[in-house]
Amino acid sequence: MSISSYPDSALPGPVVLIIDDHELVATSLAITLRAAGLQAHRHTVRSRDSVLAAAATLQPGVALLDLDLGRDPDGTRIDGTSFVEGMCRAGWRVLALSGSSLAGWAAQEACADPRNHRYTPAGGLPELKAAIVEKTQRDSGYAIAENQVLVTNGGKQAVYQAFATLLDPGDEVILPAPYWTTYPEAIALAGGVTRVVVTGPESGYLPSVEQLEAARTPATKVLLWCSPSNPTGAVAPRELTEAVGRWAVANGIWVVTDEIYEHLVYDGAEAVSMPVAVPELADTCVVLNGVAKTYAMTGWRVGWMAAPPDVVKAATNLQSHLSSNVANVSQRAAIAALSGPLDAVHAMRAAFDRRRRTIVGLLSEIPGVLCPVPQGAFYVYPAVGGLLGKQIRGRRLGSSLELAAAVLELAEVAVVPGEAFGTPGFVRLSYALGDDDLRTGISRMAEVLGEAS
Ligand SMILES: Cc1ncc(COP(=O)(O)O)c(C=O)c1O
Repeated sequence: MSISSYPDSALPGPVVLIIDDHELVATSLAITLRAAGLQAHRHTVRSRDSVLAAAATLQPGVALLDLDLGRDPDGTRIDGTSFVEGMCRAGWRVLALSGSSLAGWAAQEACADPRNHRYTPAGGLPELKAAIVEKTQRDSGYAIAENQVLVTNGGKQAVYQAFATLLDPGDEVILPAPYWTTYPEAIALAGGVTRVVVTGPESGYLPSVEQLEAARTPATKVLLWCSPSNPTGAVAPRELTEAVGRWAVANGIWVVTDEIYEHLVYDGAEAVSMPVAVPELADTCVVLNGVAKTYAMTGWRVGWMAAPPDVVKAATNLQSHLSSNVANVSQRAAIAALSGPLDAVHAMRAAFDRRRRTIVGLLSEIPGVLCPVPQGAFYVYPAVGGLLGKQIRGRRLGSSLELAAAVLELAEVAVVPGEAFGTPGFVRLSYALGDDDLRTGISRMAEVLGEAS
């Protein structure tokens, strides 16, 4: 039995069976493969036998597995090894489709290996550090060494530790808004002071160098940069990234750059890694990343920072007292994901792209809502100022906070008010959900907001 990764050349046969527990990826892939003239079938796993029964109705070909075997969708535990053996015996060539399904396999193996039952180096398994070095070169063209990597419990811990390591009490951090809610909290926990630079839809939610310069003081230590952005989906073009990086170098300001949405870009937009755009920044730059968004592996809690060796050393010391090594099983899963193919990511991106267009179109039809087209991540950040001051069923929409509460109660749709991201008057919606749910949710919201007068 062997599970190989998924090179393009692996699809010569006419029959492809996509076995998944993640409709999003498999549906898009089946559409693409059918368009390419292949007989592509989807099978959503309910049990091991259901897959083998579905396979038995087809002439054997290539089976693409996109599931974390070991999960039990109907309460029946699926034994990955015997399942794949069964498929192979029936003449199928079994390929693991996505990083996250590879991760599930690797984790199962890791559980059985006593080496993973013990403490390992606080800063991360050497094999994972090596995989991160390789992935960073592959995906963003940034050359780093293993002593520049610290593996953290999710990207969130990397954010916290970056600020805890770089800041002394009173140091200032320039933070473009709308910002991800964790940043100001991590800055405050490290004793830092946040200087917010507000941006709006007119600039595509991107700050200019002039705005950053206006926020600079003698106490400025760090600029936080996040592209593609949560919550706006804004993607900084190369010229802006270069200009901002050069400004930071010229003023001796560190850049903490959060690149966790690097693979989710649309309309030909490019996610440019800050230290690649401005190599002179390498000694004063911390890159944050993780497996959560690219591989849909939020629950595994694996992130990392790539930084100069002295910063990594200090942050590793901190982590050794704070939490020690990330769970070894998760680290092994991350190695498998990072070393695997990006095909599932590309399929996921195609589905997100479709949903992005759908949500922007539907929101733009609601009077009082202005929805810029985002170029990255999986969020839209429409302005709702046109609705504020109005009433719905006796409720006054005095702020985006009140509007979000009304939408939650009356339409049963959760949107996050702009107050959480430092810019009231807006709301954030995620389109990381199925097409039907997306349409239903937005039409319920449109119906309720349509009553505003
Ligand atoms: C911009 C950004 N950075 C980092 C993270 C952290 O991700 P995690 O801690 O799940 O790896 C998130 C999660 O939502 C995010 O949106």
